[in-house]
Order: sequence, then C-alpha cells, then structure tokens
Amino acid sequence: MRQTLVAGNWKMNSSRESIKILLDGIKASISDVNNAEMALCCPAVYISDVSNQLEDTPIAFGGQDISVQESGAYTGEISGGMWNDFGCKYVIIGHSERRTYHNESDELVAEKFETARKAGLIPLFCIGETLEERESGVMEEVVSRQVNAVIDRLGVDVLGEGVIAYEPVWAIGTGVTASPEQAQDAHAFIRKMVSEKSQVVADKIQILYGGSMNAGNANELLACADIDGGLIGGASLKADDFLAIGKAAN
Ligand code: PGA
Repeated sequence: MRQTLVAGNWKMNSSRESIKILLDGIKASISDVNNAEMALCCPAVYISDVSNQLEDTPIAFGGQDISVQESGAYTGEISGGMWNDFGCKYVIIGHSERRTYHNESDELVAEKFETARKAGLIPLFCIGETLEERESGVMEEVVSRQVNAVIDRLGVDVLGEGVIAYEPVWAIGTGVTASPEQAQDAHAFIRKMVSEKSQVVADKIQILYGGSMNAGNANELLACADIDGGLIGGASLKADDFLAIGKAAN
C-alpha cells in the first residue's frame, strides 16, 4: 500500500502573519487527518517560521526549488544543504511555472533531482503536458520524455526515491481540474512506463495529482487506483480546504 501524500505549494503567496493564521488552523485539526501525510512547501524566506511552527507536529515541510550548486557565487539560489539545515523533508523540482518562466529543461530538472537526493531531500518531481500538447495527442510522449530524463541520468531506482507529481499545465490555477478518468489514465500510463524499467519502483512510487485539486473534487480523485495524493496550490492557502483534502484520504 502506498502512503497518501497531500503536499501544499504556496508558490509566491503568504506573509508572516497569514502563515501564522494558516498553520494555527491546520494544526488545530490535523488530528482529523488519519490516512495521509501532510506537507507544505513554502517560500524560502519563511522556512524558519514554518519549521518553528511545525515543530512537534506530524506535518512535513520543504522548499519549492533547489540550486544544482552546493555553495558559492550563485546569487539568489538556495542549496539543498540550506533546506536541510531547517529540517525540510521535501523539495519541489520541475514545477511547470519554473519550466515556463525560468526555462528549466528536462535535463536541468533531472540534475536538480540528483542534487536533492544528495542533500537527503525527497524531490516532488513535477511533470505534465500543456493544453496544446494534450489537444495534439502527445501527452504520453511529453510525460515519458520528462520521466526518462531522470531515469537516463540517475537510473530507475533513484527515481523511486522521489515522488512524481502529475500536473497537467492546463489544470494548474485555472479551476479546470482533470476529470478522475483523465487523471487516472495519465497516472496509470506513468506507472506502466516506469514498470517497463522496474516493477518494484512502479509499485512503490507515489504519483500525486496536481491542478485545481480542492475540497470538492479530492474524494473522487484520491479514490483512483493510481492517484496517491495531491500537490495543492490555491487550496493549500486555506486551512479548512487543505485539511478537507487530507481528510478525503481517510
Ligand atoms: P493549483 O496549483 O492547485 O492552484 O492548481 C497546483 C500546483 O501548481 O502545484
């Protein structure tokens, strides 16, 4: 049985004040979430606040990106060691917003996967097709290319040390969610392509769905055989919504 993981991605949202209110709200009812691990990926400047406020709770936390460098003259970058210093468990890599706005290539994302593992962090490895790619029928080709970039660089066993987040770009922040059938089909395809390299890794790797997942659709999505949790943007900024998604796994 794969553990359900519900991970929030705050993106470039929040303030010290809003974080305090949000985390107080989540902590107050976290004991109602019985069947999912909950995690929050926050902007780097707030990692100390988040790590302090989540001390002695079962809620994991992490960053939203990682430098491929360990240290040195790389202005503005955050290293794996820095995330580690604050007790982070996870780091998001290859989010479509970084692929789009920062031109991150499949190869760079694979390198970030490697850097995260070397720092002892679990990569939340994002993949997914654009609307244009889905409509032209190349979704499978796109996600295969993205996953294979990691397998080619590091091998399938290292892929198995991370978490995949399938996030169709057309569903991110748009309010348009993939239907449970569309999501399940994509997840089953990803698991099958991994199984061609290793059945063991395919059986164990968590594949999260991301893209306008919310309190209203989480039940249906999490009920799908190959959906092992969610990567949640907008709905992770409200305690009740985020908790409701966690509880949908109960
Ligand atoms: P969303 O974002 O839930 O706001 O669509 C998901 C994500 O980008 O990870």
